[in-house]
Amino acid sequence: MTAQASPAYLQEMIALAKHAMENAYAPYSKFHVGCCLRSATGHFYTGANVENAAYPSSQCAEASALGNLITAGDRVITDVVVLSGEVEHCPPCGNCRQKLSEFITPDTKIHFCTPTHWLETHSVYSLLPYMFKHHLR
Ligand code: THU
Repeated sequence: MTAQASPAYLQEMIALAKHAMENAYAPYSKFHVGCCLRSATGHFYTGANVENAAYPSSQCAEASALGNLITAGDRVITDVVVLSGEVEHCPPCGNCRQKLSEFITPDTKIHFCTPTHWLETHSVYSLLPYMFKHHLR
């Protein structure tokens, strides 16, 4: 998907993701990530990365936000904002793309942002071609 005009709520999502990023627990990588998800019900859910001394036990910001969205009872993601304080482009890792894919629609948008502004927008389908989806639903 090519870059698109940004929706009106995107700047709010960026501010929320930045606030989450500032609460990241990342003493090992020192790489702080924030995420904001928007659900189909119009609610916003944020998350930060949560690292652990046992490095593989660390959790990405997207997973933190997804846990909050699911716990609140939402199921459908319309928009994803991911950003980091350390790099300009912070695309979601492959594992998070798969995690998000469970709760997307063909219209779900992944916005690459900095802590202050939008950069570009992609679909999950373009970021994760041939994604594995369960077909029992
Ligand atoms: N990280 C995320 O939070 N999201 C991603 O999509 C990529 C990586 C975190 C994990 C770890 O705490 C730090 O960034 C460095 O990899």
